[in-house]
Amino acid sequence: MKAEILALLRESGAYISGQELCERFGVTRTAVWKAVNQLKKEGYVIEAVQNRGYKLIDREGIYGKNELESRIRTKWAGRSVIFFRSIGSTNVQARKEAEAGAVHGTLVAADMQTAGRGRRGRDWASPEGTNLYFTIILRPDFQLEKASMLTLVMAHSVVRAIQEEAGIRAYIKWPNDVVINKKKVCGILTEMSMEVDHIHYVIIGAGVNVGEQEFAPQLRDKATDLVKECGRPVYRSELLARIMEYFEEDYECFLRDGDLSGLLDSYNRMLVNRDAQVCVLDPLEEYTGTAKGITRKGELLVVMEDGSERLVYAGEVSVRGIYGYV
Ligand code: BTN
Repeated sequence: MKAEILALLRESGAYISGQELCERFGVTRTAVWKAVNQLKKEGYVIEAVQNRGYKLIDREGIYGKNELESRIRTKWAGRSVIFFRSIGSTNVQARKEAEAGAVHGTLVAADMQTAGRGRRGRDWASPEGTNLYFTIILRPDFQLEKASMLTLVMAHSVVRAIQEEAGIRAYIKWPNDVVINKKKVCGILTEMSMEVDHIHYVIIGAGVNVGEQEFAPQLRDKATDLVKECGRPVYRSELLARIMEYFEEDYECFLRDGDLSGLLDSYNRMLVNRDAQVCVLDPLEEYTGTAKGITRKGELLVVMEDGSERLVYAGEVSVRGIYGYV
């Protein structure tokens, strides 16, 4: 009920009487008063005036379960939020929640991670109070080979949300990263649990650098954050709510088509390496060519110097610009 009260107060922007809140939620005045008091303890400023009711003095910077639930207005993506002030890794926690029966669309989010995981066994630095670390649990009913495309769907949704919330252009470095001005602002790690021909669940974890921060020396020329890039405040709850909204839309488009056809044009416009020379770091062989865009199955189409074409599959293959990260 706390998230609903918050959403209602925020949407109205005016005083709402205690009586109206009681009627809406079918509870007593005492229950409303208790919920409002708990919200105040969480940092919300709510004015209570006799004969007028309650009014929320909105504080955009608050980040937590109630704030997220009050802002996420989707059908299933992020409708159920499991929030931690501190957790080892939201991906590891999401696995546990999925094993325990968490529903499709459950969102696991944290303010900080003590053992954040990146791709290829790397660590993901996860300081408190500044970034997004979240994982969504999915229970798709499609063939295994489609699951890897979900990373691309999430990258597409993150770019849309960043563009809206930070007001700047972001790009995708196929398949897992989102970049701004050629520096990484978001990394995505997708994992799944499956049998021979059946997916139990897929978890998509993403870390987005939001607040202005200092990066470790080895990352300084490769990583950035949203506030540094856009020069204005960006609120984590709003950004994550927007990501969930776009992800729901993009995922449903993907399900309808059975592949990425519906997102293809938009995705290819977001591709940072489009028409640029790339170096494909395939464990079997390294080669360079020109990236032309992705196919509806999510492979990267690379044209070689002799005009022949190669399809690069996401997985353990990495793509670099010929002069560096992008
Ligand atoms: C990468 O290497 O680029 C992927 C980084 C993924 C980091 C996110 S943060 C939330 C989720 N929990 C983790 O432990 N990792 C992912």
